[in-house]
Amino acid sequence: MGTILANALGSDSAQWAAERRTLLSRLLARMAHEVRNPLSSLDIHVQLLEEDLAQPTAGVAAKAVGRLEIIRGELRRLEAIVENFLRLAEPFSLNLEPLHVGRICRQVCDLVQPDAENRDIQLVVKVVEPLPPLVADAGQLTQALLNLVINALQAVERRGRIEVSVRVDADGALMLQVHDSGPGVPVENRAAVFDPYFTTKADGTGLGLWIAQQIVAAHGGDLQVANAPAGGAVFTICLPPRGQAAVHGQSQS
Ligand SMILES: Nc1ncnc2c1ncn2[C@@H]1O[C@H](COP(=O)(O)OP(=O)(O)OP(=O)(O)O)[C@@H](O)[C@H]1O
Ligand SMILES: [Mg+2]
Repeated sequence: MGTILANALGSDSAQWAAERRTLLSRLLARMAHEVRNPLSSLDIHVQLLEEDLAQPTAGVAAKAVGRLEIIRGELRRLEAIVENFLRLAEPFSLNLEPLHVGRICRQVCDLVQPDAENRDIQLVVKVVEPLPPLVADAGQLTQALLNLVINALQAVERRGRIEVSVRVDADGALMLQVHDSGPGVPVENRAAVFDPYFTTKADGTGLGLWIAQQIVAAHGGDLQVANAPAGGAVFTICLPPRGQAAVHGQSQS
């Protein structure tokens, strides 16, 4: 049993050692960067609060309430960053069971359907039968797919379409795709989107895709991004025919 962090860093093969060291230093650098933003904002607002309180005037109480609200918000942001980081170090092992991947797609879409409706986004599930039974961790796979679908909703924002599809390709691999009608991923960001803490959103942690990638990799598969010719991003989870046997999550400690 490993953790998402331990699995990503691994310890088994010297071949990957340099790459993993780079990943760890990038992870820590980004974590430090993430923490620094709310910290400097806290510093400024506490300082302003001190100045206000040094010369109490009529409006100072109302001002202080506003500043304290900002401070509380930034504290919550720090807490979320630390919590997310700790979650990466929680025990991570795969609970393998035979499952129907079409059902996972429908469950994920049911979860986000109310949000999609509110945003006027059409959510379509396309299951191309027959599908071979998959041996996988239902909870983890749901999490990975959910991260992709939430990103799709955020990319489309409002009035658009998201298609979640699953089919078998010519080699027998299961292809799970999330295709949205959003702006797509700019070419220069294609590699970076999978980096931990890479985000273009004001309130994003930048961990969603990285976690999804770790989960897919633990199942012996891979996660890729492309833009569709007609526009929009396409994220593809590819699970090899019997790739479910390549479960790194269970063999590491
Ligand atoms: N469907 C998509 N269309 C366009 N860009 C995307 C899409 N999905 C992800 N991205 C880009 O990849 C970045 C990283 O995504 P990721 O899910 O890792 O983090 P996030 O969504 O920014 O934050 P969080 O997942 O914590 O909310 C996003 O900030 C966005 O720039
Ligand atoms: Mg995300």
